[in-house]
Amino acid sequence: MKINNKIAKKLRKDFPIFKNNKGMTYLDNAATSQRPKQVIKAVTDFYEKDNANVGRGLYTLAEKAMVDYDNARKTIANFINADTEEIIFTKNTTESLNLLSYTLSSIIPKGKDEIVLTEMEHHSNLVPWQHLAKKNKMKLKIIRIKEDFTLDMKDAKQKITNQTAILSFTHVSNVLGTINQIKELIKLGNKNKAITIVDAAQSISNIKIDVKKLGCDFLAFSSHKMLGPTGIGILYGKKEILEKIPPFNFGGGMIKRVEWGNAEWADIPEKFEAGTQNIAEAIGLGEAIKYLEKIGLENIADWEKELTEYTLKKLKEIPGIKIYNSGPDKSAGIISFSLGKIHPHDVSALLDEKGIVIRAGHCCAMPLMKKLGIPQGVSRISFSVFNTFEEIDNIMEALKKIKKRFE
Ligand SMILES: Cc1ncc(COP(=O)(O)O)c(C=O)c1O
Repeated sequence: MKINNKIAKKLRKDFPIFKNNKGMTYLDNAATSQRPKQVIKAVTDFYEKDNANVGRGLYTLAEKAMVDYDNARKTIANFINADTEEIIFTKNTTESLNLLSYTLSSIIPKGKDEIVLTEMEHHSNLVPWQHLAKKNKMKLKIIRIKEDFTLDMKDAKQKITNQTAILSFTHVSNVLGTINQIKELIKLGNKNKAITIVDAAQSISNIKIDVKKLGCDFLAFSSHKMLGPTGIGILYGKKEILEKIPPFNFGGGMIKRVEWGNAEWADIPEKFEAGTQNIAEAIGLGEAIKYLEKIGLENIADWEKELTEYTLKKLKEIPGIKIYNSGPDKSAGIISFSLGKIHPHDVSALLDEKGIVIRAGHCCAMPLMKKLGIPQGVSRISFSVFNTFEEIDNIMEALKKIKKRFE
């Protein structure tokens, strides 16, 4: 379904939040997306019709819950072309990355002692690695960005070496919107026998990902950034690696056999899924994927590109504005900017008075803000399927007024 302004307005009707917040312009989709009624219904239906725990009960209701839960995992696996047992349910991207930072030490070959990241990382793809580096006396190496806000691939080639144990990077920057050349990065990682990890938190809703074609070892993402419920995230991992690394949490649901002194782990993915899982949320995520696929990720990307082009053109008309974005062809629906010397928190608060919602501040990327020379952070606009040109006109008019008020 090709999206235009009219279709975007039609899709908007699927999102009940707008009925309950009349006139709201929601431009904070990178923080969390809104949920269509189809997803909300799937979650409610589960609780109202099929609620039972999974993987234990032998009665009809529990079996139905198990089928729904398994089907959700299949939908997620198909979505990224993974095998079903390669999909691990976590809480979110952050937990997926933590799982790796706790368990990968066991498979890092002797002599490899470097973790390579990029200057664009969200704290969730930095702090877990800092922790691992301190614990194991490893070195963090950070690939630079260029002045056009894209990744410096020459620097990547220098920093990714046979010393690299782990190469973890974001697919799309949550601040700059930059789409990284992940195929090339994974190739460099594989050539140097590094463990490659893709943070797909900001790309999963608008770029088609095929993990088999990419050849990455791991991929992490969150349901709540792709029209799905909160509380559920995914870690994809290559089967042969998941089988080698140890569990991350211990308890019920992740074992095959337990004695007083010992336990044998369940097969993957259950080995990594201790305790009762977020069953309704997993089913809701399956529904969100069906919704995204019905529209088509290419169509979503095209629409977000059109909105980006339009927004960049309008933003550039505001005197004294500084834009942090690499352009509509190299970015994915996220634009950050500084409105002269006005603090981003003031920008956000004043926009909020007009019912316009954006993110303001460091966007969980403090080191990047420091690099850009803006410790106070940025104002950030981020799009979804339901955003329209009129909403961009609204924010532009409001930004111009804010600028005048502070002059
Ligand atoms: C690129 C990126 N990585 C990781 C995260 C963390 O996601 P979550 O808070 O859902 O764990 C975010 C959230 O904004 C993000 O944008």
